[in-house]
Amino acid sequence: MKKPVKILVLGNGGRENALCWKLAQSPMCKEIYCAPGNGGTASLDKVKNLDIDILDFNLVNKFCKDEPIDLVVVGPELPLSQGIVDVLEADDIRVFGPDRQGACLEWSKAYAKEFMENVGIPSAKFEVVDSLTKTEAVIKNHWARVIKVDGLAAGKGVFVCADEKEAQEAAEKIFKQRAFGDAGNKVVIEEKLSGDELSLLALCDGTNLVPMLASQDHKRRFENDRGPNTGGMGAYAPVELYKRHEKAIEEQVLNPIRKALKEGKLVFKGVLFIGLLISDKPHVLEFNTRFGDPETQTILPLLKSDLLEALWACTDKSLDKVKLEWSNNSSCCVCLVADNYPEGSSKGQRIEISSDIEDAVVFHAGTKLADGKLVTNGGRVLNVVGVAPAMSEAIAAAYNAIPSIKFNGMAYRRDIARRTSACPSV
Ligand code: AMP
Ligand code: GLY
Repeated sequence: MKKPVKILVLGNGGRENALCWKLAQSPMCKEIYCAPGNGGTASLDKVKNLDIDILDFNLVNKFCKDEPIDLVVVGPELPLSQGIVDVLEADDIRVFGPDRQGACLEWSKAYAKEFMENVGIPSAKFEVVDSLTKTEAVIKNHWARVIKVDGLAAGKGVFVCADEKEAQEAAEKIFKQRAFGDAGNKVVIEEKLSGDELSLLALCDGTNLVPMLASQDHKRRFENDRGPNTGGMGAYAPVELYKRHEKAIEEQVLNPIRKALKEGKLVFKGVLFIGLLISDKPHVLEFNTRFGDPETQTILPLLKSDLLEALWACTDKSLDKVKLEWSNNSSCCVCLVADNYPEGSSKGQRIEISSDIEDAVVFHAGTKLADGKLVTNGGRVLNVVGVAPAMSEAIAAAYNAIPSIKFNGMAYRRDIARRTSACPSV
C-alpha cells in the first residue's frame, strides 16, 4: 500500500460493522463502502453504505472497476461459496477472502473432514454417506450420534443426538423430508465428543498462518447453554482454556495446516475460522472460511495493530512481515436479539440508544436506517462489547450499557462470559 485506499466490505452484520470500525481507524484507509451495510455502518466516519445485491457478482465487479476499489473484504460465506473471489480476481481486483475451492472447507463438511484426515488434524471419528439406508446402517454404531448436512445450512444443519432414535429422526428430516434440499444430498456422521469449545481465527496469505486471539462463543439461545443453537448469543476473549492448550493447538492443528499450505494440499487466503473442541486434547469440529460473528466483534476491540495492513498483507503474500499485537484487556460481547430469535426476527421496531454509553462499544447487526430513524432489521440486532482490564469489569461494562438501549421485544443472555474461570462468581 503506497497511498490511502478505498475499501469495499461486503455484508450487513455485526461482524461487518466491527470490520468497518477497525479498518476505518487505519491511517491508510481513505474511504469504505459497506454493501449493503446496516444502521451502524451508515453512521461510521469514512464509511458509506452501498445498496447493491452482493450476490450479483457482475454488479459488484462493475462497482469495483468504476470506483475504483483497492481492496474488497468479503464478510459472509454465501458469496465465497458461490465464487465471488474467483470472479473479482479474474478482473485483477484485490480481494481478502478465499476462492471457491478454498471456501470448500466451509461449504462441504465432508471435504473438511477428509482434509483433516489427510493432513493429520485431530477431529471426531466420522463417515460420509449419501442415503437414508446408509445413514441407518452407520447410526447403529454407538459412536455415531452427530449428523451434519454436507452443504451450507445457515448453522441449522448439525444434529447432536442423544440416541439412535434421535439420529434416525434427523436422518429422515434430511433425506426424506429434504429439509435442506441439495445441501443434504450427503451427510457426515460423527462420533459425539464432549468438552469446551473455542473459536480461533487465523489470518492466511496462502503460505503463512497467523492466529488471532481465541474467543469463546455462546451458541445456545438461553442461559446455561439451554435452548436451540443460534449464530451466537455472545462471546468473550481472551480464553483461559486456550492458554492452557496453546502449545497443543499450535503443534496438532496449526502446524499441519501450515504444512498443507506449503505442500499445496490446501490453497487458501483470507481468514480461517477454526472451531475447536477441547477434551483431553484439541479436536477441530469445523472450519469456516470467514470471520466469525460475534467473535470478530469481541476480538477486534482488543487488536492494537492496523487491521488494514494485516488484511492487505494476506492479499500480498507478506503476512510474515506483520505482527499482530493485542492489548491485555478483556472483552465481553453480548448480543441483543429479537425475542423470537433464532426461529424469527424483528423488522421495523424503533431502536433507541442513549448517548450516555461510555465504557462499551455498540456494533449494529440487524438494524437499518428508515427515513433517518434507526429500526430493527434481523434476528440479532445489536452487539454490546465491554472492554476493560479485568474480565469481571468487561462483563460489567457490557451489561451496564444495556439499559441505555431499547427496542420492542429485546432479549439477551444474562450469562455471557460467566463460565470463564477468570470470573467464576459474577
Ligand atoms: P459445527 O457447525 O460443525 O461446529 O457444529 C455446530 C455445533 O454442534 C458445535 O458448535 C458443537 O456444539 C456441536 N458439535 C458439532 N460436532 C460435534 C461433535 N462431533 N461432538 C459433539 N458436538 C458437536
Ligand atoms: N459464531 C459462529 C460463527 O460465526 O459461525
